[in-house]
Amino acid sequence: MGDSRETSAPNAFVTGYPVKHSRSPLIHGHWLRTLHLAGSYRAVEVTPEDFPAFIAGLKDGSSDFVGGNVTIPHKEMAFKLADRPDDLSEELGASNTLWLEDGLLHATNTDGRGFTANLDERQAGWDSTDRAVILGAGGASRAVIQAVRDRGIREIHVINRTVARARELADRFGPRVHAHPMPALAEVMQGAGLFVNTTSLGMDGEEAPLIDFSPLAGNAVVTDIVYVPLKTPLLAQAEQQGFAIVDGLGMLLHQAAPGFEKWFGKRPKVDEMLRALIIADMDGH
Ligand code: ATR
Repeated sequence: MGDSRETSAPNAFVTGYPVKHSRSPLIHGHWLRTLHLAGSYRAVEVTPEDFPAFIAGLKDGSSDFVGGNVTIPHKEMAFKLADRPDDLSEELGASNTLWLEDGLLHATNTDGRGFTANLDERQAGWDSTDRAVILGAGGASRAVIQAVRDRGIREIHVINRTVARARELADRFGPRVHAHPMPALAEVMQGAGLFVNTTSLGMDGEEAPLIDFSPLAGNAVVTDIVYVPLKTPLLAQAEQQGFAIVDGLGMLLHQAAPGFEKWFGKRPKVDEMLRALIIADMDGH
């Protein structure tokens, strides 16, 4: 007979403030059910003030979780409080996935892997370009820049309304990353094979600026990390102008997979059934 720790099912969390909009419980719940695994995954709302105590409870085992996801605004603090943040988290200064291993709290950031896995799945060959353009220099942009750089794309151009933020990222991510103000957009798009929107432009039905994508390479891929709506105004424009597009929903689904495997021991699949489940949830709101 094993002791209770061996036989009890693993519990994982997503924490944020607020957290009720998180779709992670739907994703992990779907995988737990379809893989017939015992275990739970639930949303836990924690204020920034209470977050250190929440992490302390995780580390000393009093909270009965094996790990979890961390979302806004706790990603930076999660990184700081982890015992063993990995190299990806170190460079980003933020973690979204935590797990206990040998009594220590490990941390990684899976957003970049989610980004590349989504493109690999839906537009294989997207990385056969020397030049990428990334619109936006906020929190979400960092993991995208890191992932695109680590894929080997030689020139990465970050365009942002506040150019100082783009410069900060160019300094952080090394000589292949270049910063530009908005008016440089048409020029840096020349011949680029990848265009990524990481800004909130066009999110939730907001107006988006008109963009002429024609300077891009003919086989360029345009993607948006926003997934509400699924086809953002920028993606609709790019499609109308004849470019391949990839929506951002797959990034959300794929970023969840590494954590699930850590906590529950099985590699889950991102499939059409899961996509349909999340789309139905989006339609219901
Ligand atoms: P996130 O963590 O989701 O990336 P963020 O850090 O607030 O959020 O960043 C939002 C991004 O969208 C930034 O690049 C922001 O540009 P600024 O750095 O100049 O603020 C960009 N953004 C938001 N609204 C914008 C708008 N109306 N026009 C241009 N860029 C906008």
